[in-house]
Amino acid sequence: MRGMKRALTIGLLLAIIGVMTGLVSYSVTLYRLFCQVTGAGGTTQRVDADTGPVIAREVTVYFDTNVAPGLPWRFVPLQRSIKVHLGEQALAYFEAENLSSTDITGHATFNVTPDKAGVYFKKIQCFCFTEERLEAYKKVEMPVTFFVDPRLAADPGAADVNQITLSYTFFRSARPEGAEDLARFGTIASAAAGKTLFESQCAGCHGIDTAKAGPPLGGVVGRAAGSASGYPYSLALAQSGVVWTETALERWLAGPQAMVPGALMPMSIADESARRDIIAYLKTLVATRQSEQAAPKPPPG
Ligand code: HEC
Repeated sequence: MRGMKRALTIGLLLAIIGVMTGLVSYSVTLYRLFCQVTGAGGTTQRVDADTGPVIAREVTVYFDTNVAPGLPWRFVPLQRSIKVHLGEQALAYFEAENLSSTDITGHATFNVTPDKAGVYFKKIQCFCFTEERLEAYKKVEMPVTFFVDPRLAADPGAADVNQITLSYTFFRSARPEGAEDLARFGTIASAAAGKTLFESQCAGCHGIDTAKAGPPLGGVVGRAAGSASGYPYSLALAQSGVVWTETALERWLAGPQAMVPGALMPMSIADESARRDIIAYLKTLVATRQSEQAAPKPPPG
């Protein structure tokens, strides 16, 4: 009698494991499909200019991570959750560590629950959907920039959504050729230090999506100088032909007028490592509400 019961339990467990394994491989396809449908491929997501402003309703976004069997990595979110207003851009960090003695390429997929929140969850920058190489024993921190589309508030079917879970799974990559190096994200230490510096040195004049005394800086990395719509630039900067690469930003922050004579930004950052940290942070800022800024304009001439 006992033995039969045990055999039954084991059988049941095996069946459950079978179904779960099936679900995992099936959901990879689902994730891909989701990615194609929503266009959330880790690239800059184009957002309509009519996307509403930040609105009062809040949702809590929880973060969840998994590592598929066969990938000797540790992969964890560095915050459990973030509370955001709809439309508000937020930055979350994840950490991955290669626990083995060989370089390994992985591939991340994600899903969003509840399902009905998926279409409103906009990732602007992330490490998903590209092949990612991590060197032996190396540890990296990876940023994900996202916002929840304010249109969620207008969807009666989503009236009860006040929690969203963003879940990532890293798999061992079947196609390691052409993988990008995860180390490109730098370290959080740098971007976090840059954020603090930005808040004390820059935020008085610069917002992410709105113009203050200076132009908005969301999406500035890769953008043509003087191209944020609606901001009255100096002629000097508007006609400079500069594109804000990291190198250009480095020169600008060291001395705006030395780089672009006649430019009107009245400050500079003397310390080289402070400039590097600020630029690391600027790379995490992405415009969410002005689609014309998402595509860098070619330099004039
Ligand atoms: C006192 C106000 C002020 C402060 C503080 C300030 N800026 Fe500026 N910034 C400006 C102004 C004004 C412009 C536009 C200059 C022009 O049109 O010639 C500008 C332009 C820029 C641009 C070019 C943007 C574009 O769209 O072409 C960047 C990049 C920039 N600032 C970064 C920074 C950073 C980073 C900091 C902090 C280290 C900072 N600024 C601090 C006023 C400021």
